[in-house]
Amino acid sequence: ATPTVYGQSERAPRGDYSRGGLVNTDYTCPQNYAIYTEADHNTYRQLHARQSALLPGLACDQFIAALPLLGKPERIPRFEDINQRLQPATGWQLVAVPGLIPEVAFFTLLANRQFPVTDWIRKPEEFDYVVEPDLFHDLFGHVPLLFDPVFADHLQAYGVGGLKANRLGACEQLSRLYWFTIEFGLIRQHDGLRAYGAGVLSSPGELVHAVRGEQTQRIALDLLRAMRSHYRIDSFQPTYFVIDSFQHLFDLTAPDFTPLYAQLLALDEIPPGLILSGEELL
Ligand code: PHE
Ligand code: FE
Repeated sequence: ATPTVYGQSERAPRGDYSRGGLVNTDYTCPQNYAIYTEADHNTYRQLHARQSALLPGLACDQFIAALPLLGKPERIPRFEDINQRLQPATGWQLVAVPGLIPEVAFFTLLANRQFPVTDWIRKPEEFDYVVEPDLFHDLFGHVPLLFDPVFADHLQAYGVGGLKANRLGACEQLSRLYWFTIEFGLIRQHDGLRAYGAGVLSSPGELVHAVRGEQTQRIALDLLRAMRSHYRIDSFQPTYFVIDSFQHLFDLTAPDFTPLYAQLLALDEIPPGLILSGEELL
């Protein structure tokens, strides 16, 4: 899931937010399992097969190890079945949502260890690219790492931090960090560079580009740097940020961001792809 203040975006989100009154005030709703068609299950199966074949050597170990916990790759999983494994593992729960939800609702769910998963899946003609996060992105991309205890704690801390950023008027800055870590982050593991970001892991083209691309720029994660940086939403990123471990990410983001947000006010924003002098490419 990705937060968006959809009241402020030019385009209405595509999910059905009325559902005959079935959407709750926290934007969660029942996963409408009965309405998935055979074509929907096929889309899931084909996306899963294509993407899981690419993972060795490109996805981090924790992701590959947890992927089977999503259940059988042949059909769209029931969120409640995943929850029976996820809840005992890290205390997280998946909740269904109709699509993009407002930032505060998103942060509140994460702070309560509830991960919002869009319950509709892309149409066959959107197989390679879908403009909004769908069930495949949310589930395949994000959920495996919720089984990792350190990553799980980090994501909850991000939710709590989001509520604070909202009070401080710093949601845009914090969401850039989310983009460059939880969506597009790379990690240095014992045997080389790998992806842990959901946006990378759920996209075949970007996974290869991010981890192996010859023109791709990779720099060590620096909080201020990431929060000053604009990202591309319409093409692959030119630059990715690298962490050493989930514990590194957790420790780096644990301090109070209030002084960082104040510092950011005096710093220029950085356009996509620009490397600052003195920055080392990994
Ligand atoms: N520690 C941050 C704060 O106090 C919150 C945060 C946690 C941000 C984890 C990102 C990731 O604002
Ligand atoms: Fe996402």
